[in-house]
Amino acid sequence: MSKFFNSLQLSLFEREQKGIKRTLKVRSSGIDFYSNDYLGLAKNEILHQQILNEFIAQPSLLYGSTGARLISGNSNYLRETEQIIANEHKVEAALLFSSGYNANLALFSALLTRHDIVLVDENIHRSVHDGIKLSNAKKTKFKHNDLDHLEKLLQRVKERCFIAVESLYSMDGDCAPLIELVELANKYNAALVVDEAHAFGVFGYGLVHQFGLQCKVFATVVTYGKAMGMSGATILANQLVIDYLINYASPFIYTTAIADFHVTGLRKGYQFIKENKSLQESLQYNISHFRNSGLTSSSNKNSPIQILKFESRSQLTKIQNQLEEVEINTFAVFPPTVVEGGERLRICLHAFNTQEEINQLIEKIKENV
Ligand SMILES: Cc1ncc(COP(=O)(O)O)c(C=O)c1O
Repeated sequence: MSKFFNSLQLSLFEREQKGIKRTLKVRSSGIDFYSNDYLGLAKNEILHQQILNEFIAQPSLLYGSTGARLISGNSNYLRETEQIIANEHKVEAALLFSSGYNANLALFSALLTRHDIVLVDENIHRSVHDGIKLSNAKKTKFKHNDLDHLEKLLQRVKERCFIAVESLYSMDGDCAPLIELVELANKYNAALVVDEAHAFGVFGYGLVHQFGLQCKVFATVVTYGKAMGMSGATILANQLVIDYLINYASPFIYTTAIADFHVTGLRKGYQFIKENKSLQESLQYNISHFRNSGLTSSSNKNSPIQILKFESRSQLTKIQNQLEEVEINTFAVFPPTVVEGGERLRICLHAFNTQEEINQLIEKIKENV
């Protein structure tokens, strides 16, 4: 066994040498500019109480799910919730998953065959890559948000073709040109799949919903670990696609179903987002306050994710350390999460950040550049 341990140790040592070894840190009590809890729902006491009240009021709900969806893990409450979610998004059908990672794994691994090709934005989330890997389909990356490059690739495609994009990119904070992507997909008869993990709850129910593109995309993935402040995800599509996934998607079939208690949270979460639109407005107010600072960010002007790039890796590390010293939490992103040379400071703004907190963040960064 020592052979195995030695090779693991060597790989970790290599990362340590490069200064990119990942280690777990406990969530800190400092100022939050790093979590995906954009609307503050993870710590919203009113929502917590509403979830508990709903759960207690319905004694038939179970704390767990008791099994896989196709065995004992399905409930009327879960099915009803999926229908509510489908109605809210104005799509035919919805399928819940315990995480966005699993939803993407299920979608891409089940729908694609080795005869298909997927054109993915080069910055697409790891879960999409992993899903494609499981399917054995061919994969080609197109340059980030580059429609010309995508079209050139589409012109050469002979196979059944999928296009995979995020509506708001998690490590860049910029948006995909969804309307143009829909047109291209339509022109070349490709199936467009949109991951809305970071857009859901920030821009209403996501950009596909906001632009009314539901019938023009093949499938959408929304996740609940970001603006919803919980965890889980839904694949939104027509009934045929959802029935296919129920039959063929291993990450859906061979796992314990999402529990009633969790589903209660999601149901109340949707209601809360709908009834508290002012949270999205506060978030936008804070984003524009940050962007008025004069710091240069290539992110979208309405994105809660704002990225800053610095001259060198050491300057980035220095700034993050200085911020940490005064308990301002941001996230410095290094390869392999981003490409070599793409190191950046990822700042997440929230509805609950105060103007003073944002000012403090800006001042501290400016002192160091
Ligand atoms: C774009 C994108 N898709 C999917 C996921 C995975 O979602 P989850 O965290 O719910 O597994 C993430 C989360 O990091 C993400 O940023």
